[in-house]
Order: sequence, then C-alpha cells, then structure tokens
Amino acid sequence: MGAVVDDGSRFEVVSREDFSEVTYLLEIRHPMMARAARPGQFVIVMAHARGERIPLTLADFDRAKGTVTLVVQAVGKTTRQMQQHCHVGTELYGLVGPLGVPSAIGSAKKVVCVGGGLGVAPIFPQARAHRASGAYVIGVVGFRSRSLMFWEERFRACCNELIVCTDDGSAGIKGFVTDGIRHALERHADVDEVVAIGPPVMMRACAEATRPRGIKTVVSLNPVMVDGTGMCGGCRVKIGGEVRFACVDGPDFDAHRVDFDDLMARLRRHAVAERAAAERWSETCRMQRPPEPPAEEPLPLPDPFEEVRGG
Ligand SMILES: Cc1cc2nc3c(=O)[nH]c(=O)nc-3n(C[C@H](O)[C@H](O)[C@H](O)COP(=O)(O)OP(=O)(O)OC[C@H]3O[C@@H](n4cnc5c(N)ncnc54)[C@H](O)[C@@H]3O)c2cc1C
Ligand code: FES
Repeated sequence: MGAVVDDGSRFEVVSREDFSEVTYLLEIRHPMMARAARPGQFVIVMAHARGERIPLTLADFDRAKGTVTLVVQAVGKTTRQMQQHCHVGTELYGLVGPLGVPSAIGSAKKVVCVGGGLGVAPIFPQARAHRASGAYVIGVVGFRSRSLMFWEERFRACCNELIVCTDDGSAGIKGFVTDGIRHALERHADVDEVVAIGPPVMMRACAEATRPRGIKTVVSLNPVMVDGTGMCGGCRVKIGGEVRFACVDGPDFDAHRVDFDDLMARLRRHAVAERAAAERWSETCRMQRPPEPPAEEPLPLPDPFEEVRGG
C-alpha cells in the first residue's frame, strides 16, 4: 500500500474543550494555515457539504503542531450543529483562510487588550503578539460570572498585567470591561493603544471610554459575511461615513470612526430567518431523539447583541 499523502485537505478536529454549555474550543489540523496565520485574521468554516459558511476568528495557531484554534459560541443553527457534531476525530468539510488584514502590531509601546465574553479568545493572539513585539501589555477580560471564565492562565502568562471583570463580582473587579479600561488608564497615563473585541455594544462602549482621551482604539468588526473575499458586499460597514468591506479592508477598524448603529441594524436584519432556521433544526433534532421527560426550562441561547460582555 502506498504512503498516504497529507495534502492538508482533511480538516480534522484534534482537540476540543467545552468552556461552558454554549462555548467550545476546536483545535483543527491545518499545517499550511498555521504557518500563514497572523493575529486578527479569520477563517470561513463549512461544517458539512450543505452547511452554511460562517466566519470565525483564529483564536490561536501553533506552527509547530500545525494546528489552528477556534473558539465558538453556539448562538444559532450552524454553531449549535457544530457543537453537537464536531468532536475529536471528526472533520470539517471546508476551512478557508487565513482571511482579512492582520492586526497592526509593533508600533505601540503600551497596549490595553480588551476581550468581552467570547471576544477573550480572538484578543489572545493580539495580546501575545504585542508582548512579543516588546510592548507593555495590559489585558482586560470580562465575563458575566466566574463560571464562564476561560484562558485566565494564558492571559496571565502573556500580559504584564491582567484585569479580570465580572458582572456579578464573582471574580476580579465587579463591573464591565469599560471599568477595567478606566482602571488601566488611571494607572497608566501613557497607554498609546486600546484594542477591543466583543459584542458590538461592548466595542462601542470601549470606543466611548477612550474617545475623550484621544487614545487610538481598534475594534474587530463582525458583520454578516458570506464569501469573505470582497465579492458579495454582505459585510459592508460604515467607517467615517465611507463604506468598507470588513472581510478585505478589516476586520480591524478605528473604533472612533465606526458607525455602530449601522452595524447593529445590519446584523439584526436576518433575525427572523435565523430564528426560524434554528427552530427548524431543533425540531428535527427532537424528532430524531427518543422522547425525553419535559425539561424544566430550555437553555436560553446567548444573544450576541444584548450582552454587554457575552460569555
Ligand atoms: C470576522 C468575524 C469573526 C467572527 N469570529 C467568531 C468567533 O471567533 N467565534 C464565534 O463564535 N463567532 C464568531 N463570529 C460570529 C459567527 O460568525 C456567527 O455567530 C455565526 O455565523 C452564527 O451562525 P449560526 O447559524 O450559528 O447562527 P444564526 O442564527 O444564523 O445567527 C446568529 C447571529 O450570528 C450572526 N451571523 C449569522 N450568520 C453570520 C455570518 N455568515 N457571518 C457573520 N455573522 C453571522 C448574526 O449576527 C446573527 O444574528 C465572527 C463573525 C465575524 C464576521
Ligand atoms: S463577505 Fe462578501 S464582501 Fe465581505
């Protein structure tokens, strides 16, 4: 039998970790992508042949192991399907990337890297790269409560300082990531850049927290994407009154110039169809399972807009 040639086209899940009932990590074997990946970039995933294409940010990449890491929040049909089906040894049908303009690293001397809820994962490669470039890095990570926290040790290892914020005060300071930013800025008058990733409402609040001081602030935008190559126009965002395509011009943009109202209105546009797709899928799953005793309360899905900090 001839040798099996590894052409990198099998996107095997080599490890999985569940951080909470709705958040899970998938590490996927893709040596070529691991070599090419840069902080701030994303991929387009197709879980199966007839699956939707969804964009996910590279939360990590390991060139030596030849893997890339995605952290996913189950918010609708596709991310819930993946939560159910993507286990170690399974394969993704398609994985395209790395896409998007890599984050600008190297010019800032003191950086605050802010991640809210799920945004904690994609901010990690940026925090690590800023530190590697010689910058002093202050991490600010926010969750609703201690039980939803993940990667605290990773951040402690790569940041000079870490401020943990929880809505309920169960870990770190009680408050939002914007409180964490204010703490950092009170102690460090010489911060020259803030980078924030999380739900749009959180990123807008971060932009408003830094605007009065005129500190350069960068956010990673998450409009609906289809092709991820600048062809479909689905990911139009308004930056300083001008139209940009987040997939090829971003996803990083100057937070003080982003039209967040437009972003949020566009994200809500397909809400009815998305809810219907998730309900149809749930119904199909229920019909395929043997009958269960009635649950007390169905698990509420996270709303990517209402949450200030996600999780
Ligand atoms: C550049 C970028 C990076 C992202 N990184 C991550 C990540 O690392 N982890 C993560 O969990 N999520 C990430 N997202 C969001 C993720 O793509 C959506 O949660 C996912 O597509 C939802 O699909 P669904 O079928 O499960 O849910 P649906 O019910 O279809 O949608 C739920 C919500 O997700 C958003 N969404 C739906 N389809 C898309 C789409 N094609 N493109 C973008 N947003 C969509 C909409 O706001 C929608 O209201 C990212 C989005 C972008 C644009
Ligand atoms: S996703 Fe189609 S243009 Fe950006």
